[in-house]
Amino acid sequence: MTTPPEVKYTSTSLSLSSLITCFISCFVIVSCLLEGLCVTSKANALSQSATLSLDPLLWDHVVDLNEDFRILWKIINQDITFEIQARTLGYVGFGFSPDGNFAGSDIAIGWVDKGQTYFQDRHIKRNGDPEPIVDPSQDYILMWGYENRTHTVLRFRRKLDTCDPAHDIAITNDTMRLLYMYNERDPPHGSVKPGHLPNPASSFRPYRPIVLTQRPHIQFKHEEYVRILELRNEDVELPGADETLIWCKTFKLDDMKRKHHLIRYEPIYDSPASVHNLQHITLRECHGMHQELEEMAREQGRQCMGARDIPLACNAIVASWSRGSNSFTFPDETGYPMESRQAKYYLMETHYNNLQPDLTQLHANRQMADNSGLKIYFTHVLRRHDAGVLSIGE
Ligand SMILES: *[C@@H]1O[C@H](CO)[C@@H](O)[C@H](O)[C@H]1NC(C)=O
Ligand SMILES: *[C@@H]1O[C@H](CO)[C@@H](O)[C@H](O)[C@H]1NC(C)=O
Repeated sequence: MTTPPEVKYTSTSLSLSSLITCFISCFVIVSCLLEGLCVTSKANALSQSATLSLDPLLWDHVVDLNEDFRILWKIINQDITFEIQARTLGYVGFGFSPDGNFAGSDIAIGWVDKGQTYFQDRHIKRNGDPEPIVDPSQDYILMWGYENRTHTVLRFRRKLDTCDPAHDIAITNDTMRLLYMYNERDPPHGSVKPGHLPNPASSFRPYRPIVLTQRPHIQFKHEEYVRILELRNEDVELPGADETLIWCKTFKLDDMKRKHHLIRYEPIYDSPASVHNLQHITLRECHGMHQELEEMAREQGRQCMGARDIPLACNAIVASWSRGSNSFTFPDETGYPMESRQAKYYLMETHYNNLQPDLTQLHANRQMADNSGLKIYFTHVLRRHDAGVLSIGE
């Protein structure tokens, strides 16, 4: 028999015993919902979960935020369950940013030290101090955590809307800005005191825009009134092993006299090798008619280095694809509004990251230039709701 993972809570607002009861009942409830049968033996919890996490059907979605950090999630009613699998034996953090910066973010921090799992709902103040501090209200609930020789794995759940607007960010149907961090060290002696989290500032990774509430396995019927547009990069020189390249290409939208709805998008792989090179693609719409945008639309594209290189006018996220997902389809009643009077330019930001081992690099047929991109499906047959647009700043 396997012993369940020992769980240590550092919440101040609830007693340990009530949390442990919650831990057990949460686990049993979730197991029931996910499996359709009840797991009554709590001693079996760890091995049960370990088997479950290998089952791809357990999770609705899996995304690799980078080569070291995988997230899996599933939504049941108003609850969302996450699992983080991070290649580190130090602490990990995962949460949401209001605008892409860490100030004002909602973040959960956890780590495993000497077999004990520590986990807290935290937030980052707006005053510039990057260290996440513990929330008075603990709304992220740890379900289990463990460490193997290479990874830290944490599974936890929260309400989509935790009703803690002061320190949490509600998960909506909009594109969320996922913030994540990890470090090779744990805080000393399980301490949650301010100043004890090792190097928070340098442990953050650039945020990733993702729609978490997309429905899994949605059926898409390609009706004849649906049009397709391929937004492709042009002969981008691929990076070598372990290098990252961010490529920005601007597109000018043809005149659309009337409003359309974008209803689906999927990656275009230029070749089988592209599958190993594409990390994620973000498509933004740019408002206004700036000369800079017109010039960029005539270029082949350019290397760009994240937020600073992206014109401020291009801050609304239209589409966001990540390695690990095949496509994104909006629910039947929703579409992302496209109107050339509102936004004539689209900026596609592609992160290339070559993860192939060196041996394959030596292969004679190594592809050098890439023309991958995004295929978008849109229609003039409007749906009832416009999909949410979240913008940075302004
Ligand atoms: C550790 O766990 C991670 C995540 O489940 C898994 O991908 C990895 O292969 C495991 N490593 C070892 C050495 O068992
Ligand atoms: C999000 O989308 C779902 C499914 O389309 C819908 O039932 C729900 O009301 C939406 N939530 C909000 C806050 O708009």
